[in-house]
Amino acid sequence: MKGIILAGGAGSRLYPLTLVASKQLQPVYDKPMVYYPLTTLIEGGIREICLISTPQDLPRFRQLLGDGARFGLAIEYREQARPEGIAQAFLIAESFIGKDAVTLILGDNIFYGGDVFTRAFGDFKSGATILGYHVNDPERYGVVEFDEQGRAVSIEEKPKSPKSNYAVPGLYIYDNEIVNITKNLKPSARGELEITAVNVEYLKRGTLRVQRLARGFAWLDAGTSSSLHDASAYVQTIEKRAGIKIGCPEEAAFRQGFVSLTQLEEIVGKMPNCEYRSYLETEVVAEVKRLLK
Ligand code: DAU
Repeated sequence: MKGIILAGGAGSRLYPLTLVASKQLQPVYDKPMVYYPLTTLIEGGIREICLISTPQDLPRFRQLLGDGARFGLAIEYREQARPEGIAQAFLIAESFIGKDAVTLILGDNIFYGGDVFTRAFGDFKSGATILGYHVNDPERYGVVEFDEQGRAVSIEEKPKSPKSNYAVPGLYIYDNEIVNITKNLKPSARGELEITAVNVEYLKRGTLRVQRLARGFAWLDAGTSSSLHDASAYVQTIEKRAGIKIGCPEEAAFRQGFVSLTQLEEIVGKMPNCEYRSYLETEVVAEVKRLLK
């Protein structure tokens, strides 16, 4: 399974913050937004990742994440010249995807709770797996409708009159058919290759699985000033209460076995003195050493 992080777009909803740094580089509490989706992919066991962003912003992502080696990953970068739709990612990354299945995660989506994705990636065989999450403002999202047996019967993008409260979060798992499906898509009225059109195609083929996220699982999108603030407040609350970090790729990479304890110690040793470093030193490295004794 390969992973794509889509981190482009105009960022107009966060203007003027986005005049100098793209949305996905803005802080969500104590780390850049892109650390969260990156960590989600790592926790799901994905090691080959392609990050797509605008030509202006791509150098900053490279500066931040490099070739991925410090997370035990191989990260490639591709440009999206114009924001012509989420599904365009599959055309841009066609050679990266090759013959594999692929997970696309939006760079402004934050997931927290349980091992839902580890199982979703592990169980995935073919077709498409998307998620359903109960929200109080479904008209802002792709919306999935279920029949009495819990089967998905329709998906609509930002409907004025939503048929359910289940929004489709920005994490999508597809088999290799995704590239052909995207090649046959027509741009929507707003000129975009819509991810919802992709999901509708899998639904028509009878190969779409919609996994409903349980209560207690958190899905936040940080795409507006208000939701960005909410996401920061949420992360701060959990981190302070539990004494753990959400969206810490170094920790996730270590727990997945992508980097060894020695490598992690080296990586941490190069960090400046800061709260992030001391978390990794005391809560991860020292704790593991204590347990190994
Ligand atoms: O957050 C989940 C929702 O994301 C889904 O429920 C919707 O079905 C899906 O269309 C999408 O809705 P948004 O209104 O959030 O889409 P937006 O245009 O804001 O794009 C989402 C992210 O993807 C954003 O961080 C920018 C990035 N993006 C978007 C487009 C259209 C790109 O990098 N390139 C693009 O061409």
